[in-house]
Amino acid sequence: MKKKVTKILGLLVLQFSFLAICGSAQEGEKLYKTYCAGCHGANLEGNSASSLIKTAWKYGRSGSLMTRNITFGIPGTEMIAWNQVLNKEQIKSLVDFISDAQKIQPNIDRAIPQHIQTEKYDLHIEEWVEDVIKTPWAIEFVSKDSALVSERRGMLRWIVKGTPLKESVRGVPQSQEFKTGGYMDIAIDPKYKENGWIYLAFSFAPERINDASAPAMTKIVRGKIDNNNWVAEENLFEVPNELLVTKGNRWGCRFLFDKEGYLYFSIGDMGYAEYAQDLSKPVAKIYRINPDGSVPNDNPFINQVDALPQLFTRGNRNVQGIAQHPETGDIWFTEHGPMGGDELNILKKGGNYGWPDITYGIDYDGSVVSDQTTQEGMLQPIIFWNPSIAVSPAEFSNSPLFPHWKNNLFIGALAFEEVRRLPTDGNKVEYQEMILKGYGRVRDLKFGPDGAFYVVLNQPDKILRITPK
Ligand code: HEC
Repeated sequence: MKKKVTKILGLLVLQFSFLAICGSAQEGEKLYKTYCAGCHGANLEGNSASSLIKTAWKYGRSGSLMTRNITFGIPGTEMIAWNQVLNKEQIKSLVDFISDAQKIQPNIDRAIPQHIQTEKYDLHIEEWVEDVIKTPWAIEFVSKDSALVSERRGMLRWIVKGTPLKESVRGVPQSQEFKTGGYMDIAIDPKYKENGWIYLAFSFAPERINDASAPAMTKIVRGKIDNNNWVAEENLFEVPNELLVTKGNRWGCRFLFDKEGYLYFSIGDMGYAEYAQDLSKPVAKIYRINPDGSVPNDNPFINQVDALPQLFTRGNRNVQGIAQHPETGDIWFTEHGPMGGDELNILKKGGNYGWPDITYGIDYDGSVVSDQTTQEGMLQPIIFWNPSIAVSPAEFSNSPLFPHWKNNLFIGALAFEEVRRLPTDGNKVEYQEMILKGYGRVRDLKFGPDGAFYVVLNQPDKILRITPK
């Protein structure tokens, strides 16, 4: 009896929410005709502004990005911030209406093209890996034939001659797949052939590893892989329990081995912008350590009482890409900003990058983080992206296969699903060329030992291999 009642109740709830969704979309249709059709077309087919039935969304495909674009508008275009006119529920009904409209349309092809023409090259694109891997975060090549991939769900996996091994590496450290955490970047020791060290960054909750609300922090270890087993693990960076935090967001973590052999890594603000300037707190910083985890004796804050000695910079909201220029040796890094504040920066020892005291963006709920974009003693970005593209990996090209791309910086974007090429001159970006757009969230970029350009995608989870035709 009880079961039956629950079942009926469940059905009623289902029906109600179904009606609510339909109702919402109907309401959305009315609002659309009143406010949006003028620019986007009576049937969403586009007019002075783009069509809203499509697969290649310029400013992001997901419901949350669409909501953000409607709510806060798109800077530099005629798309105004509709929160001045419409309330939250009305905007939600518009998003429901636009999302529903996608379903009734024939599925527009989102297949990745085999060839694309870019400014310098006619590119050939191959779907190099498209099964077994799930939410790949990073790729590193250890030889011409083998690469290691980290998967956010807490796995390391070899890819041998383009085929992922069915069995992932055994005995790897346990990590909880938090909202944005889990396994992140991996790095290969510059002397890997001699010593076999592999570096790994992951979200770690020492007390309750399976509880996403437990106090946690990004942790750095190194280990070796012997016969597909993770062995000889060493702890390189782990904070004491009193410095753990609980919001489970913006963990970083990107690695770079520079030419001198130092290891850099990043930790995001983890939702604690108020600690970004505080050198005694681990969040919102870039770090520099020796490969064995010891602290280089010329680290900038080493003599400061209370400062974590591994720190190299502060005021970094969430650094997702770090790359060294092959000729100048400058280290460039990308940083996830608030809305309208994604940044590209050059690394300076002891640098203060200003978060949250100065920023070009506003918070994702529309509130102002800071009304200042400059302040004495705080570094300015080389460029910033408004709207934010969710800038992530960064990689310089030095590949003999692409001589016309020599020393160009490549960046990838998650939300905007992009790969862009940025020729640089000194500390200037000359221009930006869109190479790929709309084929998935771009999580990592690498030029492999064969010279090919590898693009690691999430949603769909794939690795592309790109060569000149
Ligand atoms: C005055 C013209 C105008 C009006 C009215 C307008 N928009 Fe836009 N909208 C634009 C422009 C311009 C863009 C950005 C470039 C483009 O997509 O053509 C844009 C972009 C968008 C995007 C992002 C598209 C993408 O590819 O990522 C969405 C979603 C959107 N508008 C929804 C709406 C909704 C919903 C309304 C009604 C509440 C609306 N717009 C009203 C001009 C307008």
